[in-house]
Amino acid sequence: MSVWAILVAAGRGERLGLDQPKAFAKLGDEPLLAEPLRRLDACPWVDAIVVVAPAGWEEPAILCAEEIGAGKVSACVAGGETRTDSVRRGLAEVAEDALVVLVHDAARPLVGDEVVERVLEPLREGWDGAVPGVPVADTLKRTDERGGVRESVSREGLWAVQTPQAFAADALRRACSGDGTATDCSGLVEATGGRVRVVEGDPRLLKVTTESDLATVSAWL
Ligand code: CTP
Ligand code: MG
Repeated sequence: MSVWAILVAAGRGERLGLDQPKAFAKLGDEPLLAEPLRRLDACPWVDAIVVVAPAGWEEPAILCAEEIGAGKVSACVAGGETRTDSVRRGLAEVAEDALVVLVHDAARPLVGDEVVERVLEPLREGWDGAVPGVPVADTLKRTDERGGVRESVSREGLWAVQTPQAFAADALRRACSGDGTATDCSGLVEATGGRVRVVEGDPRLLKVTTESDLATVSAWL
């Protein structure tokens, strides 16, 4: 089965608050984008990669891919206003005959072969999608607008979901064909009736949101 990866890196990184987009924040000596790109390029399960860069940053993204010798990069396109728009633009560059599309946040640099393998497995069993998740560990409360606790929420069956997320290409295309928006691709696929399974995620897939996340991921490199 041919597996295409879409690496979404087009966010502004407002919560990180740097002068440049988050994908070009320094992680070690390189732009953050280099780490997940190198890892996906080296992943034996990935055949081709589409990079979705911040508008106006396509050239630096291509340069970054060249510098690390990421030979599987097939296209680099500008993203959109929302993550969902960025995924749509990336998906437009995926080959017609792709069977599986893996969507990964560049903001989660430490993607590994094992988690890619885990999300691909359920597709062979007929699932429309699979996402990595970690069980929620903290106690959960629902509050009113003033922070007053209304209720405690059971953590049973609750997962914090990460990327890479894998989908049968036709299921993701169907899910992206409307004008819906969701914070992850699974949300779009679920909304169009797709069956998505959660598999074991990885705490090292921490999403870089703030400066302290960047420091944490740097320390894990
Ligand atoms: N993303 C994207 N296009 C957007 C918004 C987000 O490609 N319009 C990507 C980001 O580059 C990131 C992933 O989606 O790899 C997850 O988004 P998030 O962590 O929220 O990143 P940002 O939107 O860049 O950060 P912030 O919300 O703090 O601005
Ligand atoms: Mg965002």
